[in-house]
Amino acid sequence: MEKSKANVTHQFIATCPNECKRALSQELLSLGAIDVKSQKRSVLFEASWESAYKILLKSAVASRVYLKIKQVNAKQMNFMQSKLSRSNLESYFKKDTTFKIDIYENCPEEIRIGKNQLSKTVRLAIEDRFHFLKLPQPRVDIKEPDVTFVGFYNGVDFILSVDLCGRSLHKRGFRKFNHLAPIKETLAAAIFRQALITKPQCIYDPFCGGGTMIIEAAYQALNKSVSIHRKKGSFDMENMSIFDKDLWRSTAEKLRNEMHPEPEFKLYASDLDSECVEGAKENALAARVEKHIEIFTKDFFESTPPEEKGVLVCNLPYDERIKQQDAFYKNLGDHLKKNYKGWKAFLLMPGSAGSIGLKPNSKTNFKNGSLQVKLCEYDLF
Ligand SMILES: C[S@@+](CC[C@H](N)C(=O)[O-])C[C@H]1O[C@@H](n2cnc3c(N)ncnc32)[C@H](O)[C@@H]1O
Repeated sequence: MEKSKANVTHQFIATCPNECKRALSQELLSLGAIDVKSQKRSVLFEASWESAYKILLKSAVASRVYLKIKQVNAKQMNFMQSKLSRSNLESYFKKDTTFKIDIYENCPEEIRIGKNQLSKTVRLAIEDRFHFLKLPQPRVDIKEPDVTFVGFYNGVDFILSVDLCGRSLHKRGFRKFNHLAPIKETLAAAIFRQALITKPQCIYDPFCGGGTMIIEAAYQALNKSVSIHRKKGSFDMENMSIFDKDLWRSTAEKLRNEMHPEPEFKLYASDLDSECVEGAKENALAARVEKHIEIFTKDFFESTPPEEKGVLVCNLPYDERIKQQDAFYKNLGDHLKKNYKGWKAFLLMPGSAGSIGLKPNSKTNFKNGSLQVKLCEYDLF
């Protein structure tokens, strides 16, 4: 790509839960995004295509990344259709590319236009554009489209974007073993952005389950791009004629070269259940970080710190199997106080969890799936 073209920026939208927007904004800035603005459940930013490709391959916190195509006033559908049809809509297609349109409305009921009406307007704009260019009309496929357009109506404007990802970015592809109560990869990554502000000597997850937390920590410790192993053709962007294969390849190559040969800190994980331990090892292997993590079977209440100092990060068990909820949290606090002096702990637990008998430095609320959870940070001394 010529120099001038490479420097041109475009507007993108990266989505994430509201509680992760700060972590996402910081991550986007570190990957070359500019003019980063927080919005409802997403972050709007500007980036060159090279930075956008970096973000698609490396963002650990974003769920999806959209390219913003056009923002138009949505007072009149005819006006909107005509404005949209004047954008280069053909650049999001290749020969035989199929598409669908997803619509979101975020405004009071009485001023809604309706998803059907909005989606029809976008479809007609695409038809007008292809008709104008004398190109064969692309086909709609609601079930397995090659490309998804995303329309957002805020009560005044309609914002048309196109999803560059296809499969959500949290699906890294390493989950061979499925734990019953896994943490979402993007949430684990957002937690590590907080837990790893100062580089620790080691990270230890003593309730590792299928290993999601420690694998996300390993990605950060190795500066490894979380989506670098995604199969060719699994980003929807690859189905569009705007896709620049050479730039994509060279960006991926640069990211591979930026990876550390050894992790910046040591990584340990354990679980009481040996089946989980085997599962976590299997997942670490699929994520290609297995040789950097020590994973073993251990009851936390019999554990000793693997290093003199470090950061303990875990997603505590919270299903009905822990009958003695209060005793569990109290014993956990006692074990930490007695055995982990000099450590920091970040514990993710249900919003309703009892006290562990230690005063947290900070408390952040998150949602893990439909469960309200809180991340409490402790200094142990
Ligand atoms: C919420 S799950 C962790 C899920 C994990 N973050 C993931 O994404 O797969 C909690 C884990 O704690 C483990 N566990 C329960 N009691 C334990 C104990 N006393 N010591 C160590 N692990 C324990 C369970 O076996 C379970 O795998």
